[in-house]
Order: sequence, then structure tokens, then C-alpha cells
Amino acid sequence: MPKRNKIIAVYPGSFDPLTNGHLDIIKKASAMFPEIIIAAANNLNKNHCFSLQDRLSMIKEAVKDIKNVKAAAFDGLVADYLARINSFILIRGLRAVSDFEYEFQMALMNRNLNAKIETIFLMPDLDYTFLSSSLVKEIAILGGKTVKFVPPCVEKKLKLLRKR
Ligand code: COA
Repeated sequence: MPKRNKIIAVYPGSFDPLTNGHLDIIKKASAMFPEIIIAAANNLNKNHCFSLQDRLSMIKEAVKDIKNVKAAAFDGLVADYLARINSFILIRGLRAVSDFEYEFQMALMNRNLNAKIETIFLMPDLDYTFLSSSLVKEIAILGGKTVKFVPPCVEKKLKLLRKR
């Protein structure tokens, strides 16, 4: 493993929007590493509901009280982003076996693109294993309550999606 003065772990995702499940992973990671960067990106396979700027500002607000956590947005490959900021640790959440195949493929491809990258998978608390960004958006659009599933700053934005 490469030597680093300060280990920076990167948690990339589309975070469209950030949920309490993501926050749970962020808190777990922040207890393990000296510095965490939540790196918001566009997933080319998804049509995002919130702009990258909106997603980033929701993340910043949600993590503002966690001292060793910062948020950023990036373009291009996550493997190149890690190289640019001198990081080799990539964090991802694994909710269930169904996440595994996609995550395994991404982890191996990222290592192929940048041999130094190690992907570390963290499991969210059981309460969050059923949660997904798509489900909270659907609940919000159809007028359901999302307060239990997302931080307050995200809840505010989700209310704007409600169908009239
Ligand atoms: N709690 C709740 N939900 C979780 C979760 C957790 N702990 N962990 C994952 N999820 C859910 C999300 O809610 C999201 O749900 P959705 O599919 O309904 O939107 C889904 O799992 C995964 O989303 P997220 O983790 O936000 O991001 P992503 O999988 O869309 O992120 C990137 C993918 C951005 C990391 C990837 O596309 C990327 O690296 N892009 C940059 C370009 C690149 O390098 N491509 C090559 C990659 S090998």
C-alpha cells in the first residue's frame, strides 16, 4: 500500500439525493479515516433529478457538523479524481447482496484504471438497507412523508418535487 502523510478516503456517488443511509456510511467512515471527501458526480447511466450543484449543496449542509468530512463535485473518472487528490481509498456502501455485483464490477474496474485504488465496502445499519434515493424521490413526488429517510435540508428540496 502506498505511504501517505494523511489518508484521505473518498466516498463517491450520485447522491440524487443524499439519504440517511448515505449519512450512516459517512459517519462510519469518518470514525475510521482522518479525512473523508464526499465526491458527488454524474452517473452517466442515470437521469438525475437534482442538478450536481443542488446535490453538492445538500451534502455540504448535511455534513457541516462532521469535522473531518468535506464535500466536492468532480467530472470524469473517479479513478483520475482519486489520483488528483492523492487518495487511494474509495468507500462504497453495500446494502444487500443485490448491490454486490455492480459494486464488485466497479471496484475491479477502478483498480484496473488506477492500480493503487482499494475499495472499502461498509454496511449501513439494518434500518437503512431498504432505502434508496429513487424510492425517496418517488414517495416525495406522490405526496408521502420522507422526513424519516433524509436529512432536513434534503426534505426541504424533496417537498418541491410534490405533484400538484
Ligand atoms: N443507503 C441508502 N442508499 C444507498 C446506500 C446507503 N448506504 N448506498 C447506496 N445507496 C443507493 C442510493 O440511494 C442509490 O439509489 P438509486 O439507484 O435509487 O439512485 C444507489 O444506491 C446508488 O447511488 P449512489 O451511491 O448515490 O451513487 P451511484 O451508484 O449512482 O454512483 C458513481 C456511481 C458516481 C460512483 C459512478 O457512476 C462513478 O464513479 N462515476 C464517475 C465516472 C466513472 O469513473 N465511471 C467508471 C466507474 S468504474
